[in-house]
Amino acid sequence: MKLFIDSANLREIQEVQSWGILDGVTTNPTLIAKEGKEPRKLVEEICATVSGPVSVEVTSLDAEGMIREALELASWAPNIVVKIPLIKEGLRAIRALAEMGVRVNTTLVFSVPQALLAAKAGATYVSPFLGRLDDIGHDGMEVVRQAVRIFKNYGYPTQVLAASIRHPRHIVEAALAGADIATAPFAVLEQLLKHPLTDIGLERFLADWRKLESALSAMREKV
Ligand code: E4P
Repeated sequence: MKLFIDSANLREIQEVQSWGILDGVTTNPTLIAKEGKEPRKLVEEICATVSGPVSVEVTSLDAEGMIREALELASWAPNIVVKIPLIKEGLRAIRALAEMGVRVNTTLVFSVPQALLAAKAGATYVSPFLGRLDDIGHDGMEVVRQAVRIFKNYGYPTQVLAASIRHPRHIVEAALAGADIATAPFAVLEQLLKHPLTDIGLERFLADWRKLESALSAMREKV
């Protein structure tokens, strides 16, 4: 499974990129607004930092406006993927963009029928928002499980991108469900690598090593 970071913060993106495990980036208007920078400059910097896909969202609500914006966004860098919301006008835009060869990440997907429509329209990625579904008492992972099964049944090339991830368990479950990608905030990616037993174990190994070194130097001093 591929791992993306859900962030528009350059420092976070560069940090995870330096771990050597980053496959791509997802942003959204909220994340970009949080940075308070000129969007094009920021997106270009992100695209220069990672070689994988970088999702950037349109803000128009009509198909024509979405297509216009998508073509503009796609011209900013070769690794841009355009995010289009799953609404009726969005579907029209996805179909047209897919025919033009523009990669689309369908966003704000909360149900299996929505995921199926995105695949039929030719989206490259479909992003079920697990966390937001869990927040209102639904089972977000079930949307991922069913979308994965349906796309496999019919050979749809659309990739399932598990989004709105809240904790490491979501990532494990997304992987078990067969999601192609999971996108998570920096804090969750950092939690993935942490385990208290790793820290305790390392501390013990190093303490024992230091003990051996001081015993050896004491022996050397004697001879
Ligand atoms: C995905 O592409 C979205 O940017 C993101 O996962 C939304 O997550 P949130 O529910 O934490 O805002």
